[in-house]
Amino acid sequence: MSDMLPAPGNLHRWSGYEPSDPKIIALYAKGKALQWNADVDLDWDQPVDPSSPLHAAAFPLLDLPIFQRLGAADLDRLTAKLTRLTLSQIIHGEQGALMVASRLVSLAPDYEAKLYAATQTVDEARHVEIFGRYLKRCGGIVPLAPGFGAFLDKVIDADSWLNMMIGMQIIVEGAALSSFHTYRRRAREPLLSSILDRVIRDEARHVGFGSTYLRNTLGDMSDDEREGLADYAYDAVMLFARTRRESFRQSEVFLNEFGFTLDEVLRSAAARLESGGAALADPARDGITEFILPTLTRLGVLTDRVKEKFASARLPPIMASSLLDELDMLTVASS
Ligand SMILES: [Fe+2]
Ligand SMILES: [Fe+2]
Repeated sequence: MSDMLPAPGNLHRWSGYEPSDPKIIALYAKGKALQWNADVDLDWDQPVDPSSPLHAAAFPLLDLPIFQRLGAADLDRLTAKLTRLTLSQIIHGEQGALMVASRLVSLAPDYEAKLYAATQTVDEARHVEIFGRYLKRCGGIVPLAPGFGAFLDKVIDADSWLNMMIGMQIIVEGAALSSFHTYRRRAREPLLSSILDRVIRDEARHVGFGSTYLRNTLGDMSDDEREGLADYAYDAVMLFARTRRESFRQSEVFLNEFGFTLDEVLRSAAARLESGGAALADPARDGITEFILPTLTRLGVLTDRVKEKFASARLPPIMASSLLDELDMLTVASS
């Protein structure tokens, strides 16, 4: 019997069953050993207070002077609504990750990468499950923001597995990991804390796989291919930044409930800046500059030409990143 499977379209079949990359096989072993079951590994019987999942400090927006007119109880209620909005976009992203991981089983060209992607597929199914179960207790899932949906479509439908991995393993999962760290530090609610602890470990592994596999492949690419990949990374990062800002605009309906308009909030941010105070932190920019660009730079995805494009867009790639050091520690700790 032949060991070659039929491969319609752009699926990659493999011609042997011997792994060639020990690092990916080690990640696969870790992926198997660290599987967990949300039914038994999380305590779903513990009481959940949906009015207070995170401290208000999880949302830099709520630090603006305009929100000082809210009493403590209303500030908690608004924080809870923003948490529900954010976790909803996260579950939509997890659905995208589930579809991409399952596509990588078909599209990744190497035996060991296919095995690894199979473990990630199960991880992502679990993430969709647990965020769905949690959100049921917090008022339900807010619909997918259209721009974020268009971004996910672009990644899921990418015609190259390399583009798909940059879109998902580096951009979406890198930004998610950055947000999960922020929310974990600000979590008030024990079940959400346990969920984030476990999801952070899974996501660190996924980003580790993307980084390792991309680094291996880049060494074999021609200059033209590398420029093409760098352009894709640029377009994807810029599109992602726009979609994150759209999510910010989605918060308008909740702000209105508490008597604020988005324009009024933005004016408060401008006034604070003019009086020498801090600029309103932009979550999209933070995730991108703290994690995504340093990672793309470390991997060698960004060519000099594309670094210039980012510099013109005022999103300079940086090498230093405390979060990357934290991720390295997590990867070691879970080995
Ligand atoms: Fe995930
Ligand atoms: Fe993931």
